[in-house]
Amino acid sequence: MEPECNKLMMESINKNYVEMDEYPVTTELQNRCVNMIARLFHAPLGHGEAAVGVGTVGSSEAIMLAGLAFKRRWQNKRKAHGLPYDNPNIVTGANIQVCWEKFAKYFEVEIKKVKLREGYYVMDPEKAVKMVDENTIFVAAILGSTLTGEFEDVKLLNDLLVEKNNQTGWETPIHVDAASGGFIAPFLYPELEWDFRLPLVKSINVSGHKYGLVYAGIGWVVWRSKSDLPNELIFHINYLGADQPTFTLNFSKGSSQVIAQYYQLIRLGFEGYRNVMDNCHQNMMILREGLEKTRHFSIISKENGIPLIAFSLKDSSCYKEFEVAKMLRRFGWIVPAYTMPADAEHITVLRVVSREDFSRTLAERLVVDLNKVLHELDTLSPRIYAKM
Ligand SMILES: Cc1ncc(COP(=O)(O)O)c(C=O)c1O
Repeated sequence: MEPECNKLMMESINKNYVEMDEYPVTTELQNRCVNMIARLFHAPLGHGEAAVGVGTVGSSEAIMLAGLAFKRRWQNKRKAHGLPYDNPNIVTGANIQVCWEKFAKYFEVEIKKVKLREGYYVMDPEKAVKMVDENTIFVAAILGSTLTGEFEDVKLLNDLLVEKNNQTGWETPIHVDAASGGFIAPFLYPELEWDFRLPLVKSINVSGHKYGLVYAGIGWVVWRSKSDLPNELIFHINYLGADQPTFTLNFSKGSSQVIAQYYQLIRLGFEGYRNVMDNCHQNMMILREGLEKTRHFSIISKENGIPLIAFSLKDSSCYKEFEVAKMLRRFGWIVPAYTMPADAEHITVLRVVSREDFSRTLAERLVVDLNKVLHELDTLSPRIYAKM
């Protein structure tokens, strides 16, 4: 962030966010951020109507809160109809980020995962909808898979689920985990329908500390409307002064990240964010071209997702992605290598994320260093690397 924003963060480092009566402006800034983000995601709000949402520590906390709201709504509905409510599940792709496993474990919800397959590394909406049953509290779609950056087809999921809901009467909703994509799609792909434009999308999370361009420790969750957040989950405290409604997992937290997010949103504006994201995308494309030229890799990521590049060595290679990752460390590059989840475990991927501070020069240098690594691996005996 800019030095002015660093200074602002340092000046507010002593403020506890929860002291809302003492620091009312910070609460106001949070509310403004929620309103801007909800409108960016096309929440159906009237003129001057306040959006429903909250700042969190990151997408993980945001996902816990969204998941809890769904669970409670589903339970309330089941209770009202005299139906069992002790076996809730969610349907997702096997490509979910670990925070979803945490949500399921901590809040006792079963995860039904749609398996991946070679060449298809996101949730298949048709398979997902088939897995939905009366105990499904929501389907979680990911806008920007952590593993490949690919956007899941939320529109198709919505349409198939509308059909199923019409047949069954279950009203199964959708949550979109837009941890990275929430600050990419509105700027680079404004026509893509993935957000509250789709009627079954009831809540969305986004990380402020990814493409929201703030330092670590900020995320957001926004709901479509007030009725999607059960009132009984909101706590009212008054011992710090006035009545303060809160819906977060933690009580205290720093204010700096909220203030920094507000700074970034108004300093950069829509145009500024679009320029940054466009730049990230262009640098990713430079890298993509450089990787293709090596003829050693199959590119797995799509051009129109998160600006990242995920790639595997071609089958003919006599060394592994883990060796490439290990050798790149000698040049100062930390490029993770990992295996895909079920049923694509046999595929190993290397991944480079193009962030705001990843310049064209750095992209070109990475290609040069990668070529050096490939040359060494190609010319030296494969047996040496087998021991690594
Ligand atoms: C798709 C997705 N969801 C959730 C998370 C968790 O986000 P956070 O680190 O903001 O808690 C991540 C982090 O990488 C992610 O990629």
